[in-house]
Amino acid sequence: MSSMLRGRHFITTQEFAKDEIDLMLELSSDLKRRFAVGELTPWLLYKTVFMIFFDESTRTRNSIEAGITQLGGHAHFLNPKVMQTAHGEVARDTAMILSRFGHAIAVRHCAYKIGNAYLRELAKYSSVPILNLQDDYYHPMQVLADIMTIREKFGQNTRGLKVTISWAYAESHLKPLSVPQSQILLFPRYGLDVTLAYPEGFDLMPEIVEQAKKNAEENGTKFEIVHDMDEAFKDADIVIPKSWGGFFISDDPKKIMEETRKHKDWICTPERMKLAKKHAIYMHALPADRGREVVNEVIDGPQSVVIDEAENRLHTAKAVMALTMGGRP
Ligand code: CP
Repeated sequence: MSSMLRGRHFITTQEFAKDEIDLMLELSSDLKRRFAVGELTPWLLYKTVFMIFFDESTRTRNSIEAGITQLGGHAHFLNPKVMQTAHGEVARDTAMILSRFGHAIAVRHCAYKIGNAYLRELAKYSSVPILNLQDDYYHPMQVLADIMTIREKFGQNTRGLKVTISWAYAESHLKPLSVPQSQILLFPRYGLDVTLAYPEGFDLMPEIVEQAKKNAEENGTKFEIVHDMDEAFKDADIVIPKSWGGFFISDDPKKIMEETRKHKDWICTPERMKLAKKHAIYMHALPADRGREVVNEVIDGPQSVVIDEAENRLHTAKAVMALTMGGRP
């Protein structure tokens, strides 16, 4: 492994070796400790990250913006409406110009069948790292924080833990596939047994599921798909019930929502939590649809680790920026 991830695009954890991800996690924990004691970490002094948000964000925007400031640099918050993207400027030109001005381009673009392609196009022409802040396929910043949180709660050896990644009902919007897809890809590489649960029709992308199964096989872990939330929760150590859009049901969002409404019973309740192990933790990338994906009693209850999970977004974002944007003094 090279400790030097400088200049690398961070679009999916799948493109990084396990020891490179270990390095990101070790640095995240190191940065967390330093932040806790108020130690300054000006490792990216005067460096600029351009953040382009095609979609809304609370955690991702603020973890990057606060993170780069804490590393001594600066973030520009952009969205396509304030850029010439609104007048049709192509990704190639945006990438080449912003590369000349700063040190990384970080992008959230979740539009289904568009977002990842946009990031890949930027990556083709950018001479600085492209950092994926969530697209339609992947949310690598989130899954790093997730595995960091799991290791904090269960210890570094996570082999044999059962993680249930379950669809849940929501109405706020058709949530991207990127969080569960990133989780099924990365968790087997850390020895976790994955149970993926969803109502018939709410599939994830087949090529990503295939890759996840391959990851499980290579790492000697279990990977199963079930269509019953209760069955999925049984004996789980970690439950992650979260909605995603049924993008294979129809191209019409109204039709997907009609189908979604048939599954209001896919909700995380205290009764369901009792099916999991006594020590089981409840996770969610947030924002959660309260009263739909999960009831308050669970998300605000003793098994919930969502605030720790969200905090870890800061430390992991800083680690990724320090490693990809950093350089020798
Ligand atoms: N989990 C997550 O990405 O949160 P935001 O959408 O608020 O950035």
